[in-house]
Amino acid sequence: MSMQAQKKSITTTEILRKKNKEKITMLTAYDALFSKIFDGEVDMLLVGDSLNMSFFGESDTLSATLEQMIYHTRAVCNGAKTSLVVCDMPFGSTISPQIALESAMRIFKETKAQAVKIEGGAEIKDTIKLLVQNGIAVVGHIGLKPQLVRLEGGYKVKGKQERELESLLQDAKALESAGVFCFVLEGVCAEVAKQISQSVQIPVIGIGSGASVDGQVLVWSDAFGFFEEFKPKFVRHYLQGAKMVREAMQAYIKDVKNGEFPSASESY
Ligand code: KIV
Repeated sequence: MSMQAQKKSITTTEILRKKNKEKITMLTAYDALFSKIFDGEVDMLLVGDSLNMSFFGESDTLSATLEQMIYHTRAVCNGAKTSLVVCDMPFGSTISPQIALESAMRIFKETKAQAVKIEGGAEIKDTIKLLVQNGIAVVGHIGLKPQLVRLEGGYKVKGKQERELESLLQDAKALESAGVFCFVLEGVCAEVAKQISQSVQIPVIGIGSGASVDGQVLVWSDAFGFFEEFKPKFVRHYLQGAKMVREAMQAYIKDVKNGEFPSASESY
C-alpha cells in the first residue's frame, strides 16, 4: 500500500503531550457528512452513544447497540482523515473484561477508530488494562455516567460532597494507572474537576465540569442548536441550527409552491 493512502491522524501520544500546553477539543460526530466538516479542526471526534438520543430520538443511551456504534463509527472514519476517532462502547458491551475485549476487538477490526471510550472508574481497571495490553487505546469516562441514568434515577451532578471527591480522585488514579490516554469527566463541580485534573498526568476532557480541565467535549447537535428537547446549563449554542434549517426549508417550500424552483439554469 502506498504511504499516501494511509491516514495521517493525530495520535494518542500527541493528545497526551497537550496536557498543560494546549487545550484539547473534542466534538461528537455520527456520520461522514459532519465528520468531514469537523475533521482536522477538532483534535478528537467521539462517536458517542449519545447518538441514541440526539439522532435516534430515544430518551437515554442504553439501547444503543454495538452494531449501531460500529456502523456510525465506520461512517465517521470515512469522513475523517486527521482528527482522532473514538468509538463509545455501548451499555452492556463491557460487562466483563473478556466481553469488553471481544467488543473492542470488533470495533477495531470493523472500523478505523483509533480508540474506544468506556464509562466507569476503579471498578473497570482490569478491563482497561486488558484492552490496552491487547493494543486498544482507551479513553475513560467518569463523573456523571449517562449509562447509569436508570440506576441513579436521573442525571446527577457529582462532586458536591466530600466523599464524592475522594471516590472521583480514586477513579481518576485508577484510570491513569490502568493505561487510558485521557478521560472524559462529565457533570462534576468545577472546583472538584480542577483538583482531579491536577492530580493526574493525563488529559482530562470536561463536559459540564468547568474550565479548569485540559479540554472540552460537546455533543455537536447540542453545541450547534439542533437538539431542541432541552438545553443543559453547560451547553453553549454556537449556532441556531434547527432555526436555520427551518428557515432554509421554508424558503425551499415557498420556491417550489411559487414555481421559482427549479430555474432554467437548474434544469436540463
Ligand atoms: O455519548 C457521548 O456523546 C458522550 C459525551 C457526552 C462525552 O459520552
